[in-house]
Amino acid sequence: MNSQMHTGLGPGVAELKAQLHRFIIDELEDEADNLLDGPRQALVRFVAAKVADYTRRSQFAVSRYEADRLTEELVDELVGFGPLEILLRDRTVTEILVNGPQRIFVERNGVLHHSDLRFMDDHHLLRVIQRILAPLGRRLDESSPMVDARMPDGSRVNAIIPPVALDGPCLSVRKFSRDMLKSTDMLASRSLDQAILDFFQLMVKKRCNVLVSGGTGTGKTTLLNMLSQMISPRERIVTIEDTAELQLKHDHVVRLETRPPNADGHGEVTARELVRNALRMRPDRIVLGEIRGIEVLDVLTAMNTGHDGSMTTVHANNAQDALLRLETLVGLSGIQVHDRTLRQTICSAIDVVVQLTRTSDGRRCVAEVLEVVSLRDSQYVTNTLFRLEQGIHGGFVREALNPAGEKLRPDTSQPGMPRR
Ligand SMILES: Nc1ncnc2c1ncn2[C@@H]1O[C@H](COP(=O)(O)OP(=O)(O)OP(=O)(O)O)[C@@H](O)[C@H]1O
Ligand SMILES: [Mg+2]
Repeated sequence: MNSQMHTGLGPGVAELKAQLHRFIIDELEDEADNLLDGPRQALVRFVAAKVADYTRRSQFAVSRYEADRLTEELVDELVGFGPLEILLRDRTVTEILVNGPQRIFVERNGVLHHSDLRFMDDHHLLRVIQRILAPLGRRLDESSPMVDARMPDGSRVNAIIPPVALDGPCLSVRKFSRDMLKSTDMLASRSLDQAILDFFQLMVKKRCNVLVSGGTGTGKTTLLNMLSQMISPRERIVTIEDTAELQLKHDHVVRLETRPPNADGHGEVTARELVRNALRMRPDRIVLGEIRGIEVLDVLTAMNTGHDGSMTTVHANNAQDALLRLETLVGLSGIQVHDRTLRQTICSAIDVVVQLTRTSDGRRCVAEVLEVVSLRDSQYVTNTLFRLEQGIHGGFVREALNPAGEKLRPDTSQPGMPRR
């Protein structure tokens, strides 16, 4: 057993814990079924007695606090998620990234830290991953070495194991937060400013079709959620996601989630099928969690055919690239569309691209707000409305004073709308 497996207790205690773990596994033998499937309290009593017994016999001096904590950790490892248990319970932790048994990274307040928690070895980590996946009915083994799933509390889990993961099993958990960030949080953390927020409100009210773009973990889903909250409560919204994350408070929300194929390769329900189905459900707006593939044409068509005010996200590093990414996805779908026709479709479908980024200090911000105006000589004509100023202070610059699109003209009859 690995003596580096330490747990936040002192190194001597960590070694003791490794020995205790072996001792308890041996002692459990006859009673394992009863204890592991029974109430936690009975297992806690059993483990506490073994801890007292072993420390007395091996003359290890441990405090009462250490003995209690050892007991809790050993119990967690026997029935729960091992070192992850403490992180899953900790509400200040938003993300857990495990790169093999020895390296656990944890995100708090937007900053990633190396944790001093460890798994004992690959086998221990794999056992915990299997324990997470088992109740979700998901399979992970050499023949199907990666899996994406959602835990009962809504947290998103991805696991990938050898042979494709070269340095041992890896696990990523994006914890579900009961309350997604609101506009006030985003203002406070300087992810955007009041002028951008006012513009977003106008954009949603005027039923612009919005494409939120950004790299992994830049806050696309969070912003999509915030924008969706701005939709009038009277409207009927259909949301489509691979893993349901959006938390809309509207009465009239229908939430749809794609389904991967089962172990026999059957039963898949794709985003494309759900978009098509959504169109038959008389939605006022469609909110698609992310465009990843062949559904791109269906979404663009929906946006062009009476579902104004729809929103989605895409993975791209800048706002112009987001439009090109849509083209690439259409190309990859194998459906032949003439370049100019495709650009025309994209141009009339997408009104605004909101680009997100993470700055070097870990802050997630709006990098650019781009209006898609028209097509000239087969090139997109765009208008940068806001962009993040480079430099130490990192404020936002308002670039275009007059958005060109008809939809974006402020409604001057509405007090509080931005005057541009
Ligand atoms: N503006 C923000 N300020 C601080 N934290 C944020 C902000 N936006 C999102 N976060 C946090 O960042 C994490 C990732 O956010 P989110 O899931 O929205 O990103 P994403 O771009 O959709 O990620 P993915 O590419 O994995 O889908 C979450 O924990 C979320 O709470
Ligand atoms: Mg997302």
